[in-house]
Amino acid sequence: MNLVILGVTGSIGSQTLDIVRNHRSEFNVIAVTCNKNIRKLREIIVEFSPSYVSIGQSENIEPLKSEFPDVVFEQGKQGLIGAATYKSDSEVLVVNALVGSAGLEPTIEAIKMKRNIALANKETLVVGGEIIMPLVKEYGVELIPVDSEHSAIKQLIMDKQDDVSEIIITASGGSFRDLSRNELKSVTVKDALDHPNWDMGQKITIDSATMMNKGFEVIEAHYLFNMPYEKIKTVLHRESMIHSLVEFNDSSILAHIGNPDMRVPINYALFYPTRMPYTGKRLDLVKLGALHFEELSYDRYPLFKLAIEAGKTGGLTPTILNAANEESVYLFLEGKISFLDIEEIVGECLNIFKTDLEVTLHNIITLDLRVREYVKNKV
Ligand SMILES: NC(=O)c1ccc[n+]([C@@H]2O[C@H](COP(=O)([O-])OP(=O)(O)OC[C@H]3O[C@@H](n4cnc5c(N)ncnc54)[C@H](OP(=O)(O)O)[C@@H]3O)[C@@H](O)[C@H]2O)c1
Repeated sequence: MNLVILGVTGSIGSQTLDIVRNHRSEFNVIAVTCNKNIRKLREIIVEFSPSYVSIGQSENIEPLKSEFPDVVFEQGKQGLIGAATYKSDSEVLVVNALVGSAGLEPTIEAIKMKRNIALANKETLVVGGEIIMPLVKEYGVELIPVDSEHSAIKQLIMDKQDDVSEIIITASGGSFRDLSRNELKSVTVKDALDHPNWDMGQKITIDSATMMNKGFEVIEAHYLFNMPYEKIKTVLHRESMIHSLVEFNDSSILAHIGNPDMRVPINYALFYPTRMPYTGKRLDLVKLGALHFEELSYDRYPLFKLAIEAGKTGGLTPTILNAANEESVYLFLEGKISFLDIEEIVGECLNIFKTDLEVTLHNIITLDLRVREYVKNKV
């Protein structure tokens, strides 16, 4: 299988390469992209010999071109699309491990090339679900979720979609699950990046702390499994051992359980529909002892509430939500705003940028840019 890996230098990209290393004869990495981590990219080019490489920042491109004369280098948005559509005589799986709405256009173009997508980049469905899902149907491609919750749900539902009464998505609670709203006023970037169960990229770690990530996942599940929002529940589950559950109409609930290790859903997506052995640590149920579940409070996590409301409103509202969130999270990571400013800014943008324009790629891109500019200009 030929692989394109968008966002190869990130947490999901790197773990995808771990799986590829275990199956060198089965995968050929033909194209990869990164934003600015050139040091890691160099190592990847040497180890996996892709034919096409795209990077985010142009000043890095010339030295790379002379170092790797057989590789085609591109940059920016065109480079991402070039990677997603890079020519191949045989089947290609595109792994979208980008962060943020930058993943939308390459996904659309890959689908139009009839390529299956292993999708980690949830923001693509948050902003573009209304465009992506009809395209998936039209071009007859598979959108295989990499997010552990959605991979779990896909594996649980199998072909019994019509028998599902509800989906239950689990949430770890993120870095600040034991802090009061008052205590959140003074948390630092370092505190926020210290997730109790998962080692992930910075942006998703902050989204987990604000619980925006769980809101995004509800929107993602709505599109992936064609489920009305009323049938998607969430529950706080501190151990992150149950990755999600599905209740069927005979009241049976099936749960997907295993150690929190993203290589498991990545392995599943890369070999889908085959279930390929993976030699990760096995879960010892006796050692684990107990599992706990609590209500996920809207009051404690206002961004979770805003995300669900934006999902239900639909149209371009999730685009506003996502753009405001992405830019606020980056401002927080740069130390320019406080943790609680993220929810303030997202709420403000949802009020200011209300629109009932049609969901088209053009309208998404235009609004996304406007919201980002507004947020950037706040500091
Ligand atoms: N990490 C997890 O465990 C996990 C679990 C479930 C779902 N996800 C989802 O998977 C996606 C990736 O997450 P991650 O944690 O792997 O993120 P990450 O570690 O931050 O990696 C993101 C990748 O995208 C590249 N990138 C960043 N901004 C870009 C831009 N504007 N244009 C082009 N490339 C860009 C980065 O390049 P540089 O390295 O050069 O900056 C990197 O290769 C996210 O949507 C996240 O929500 C992640």
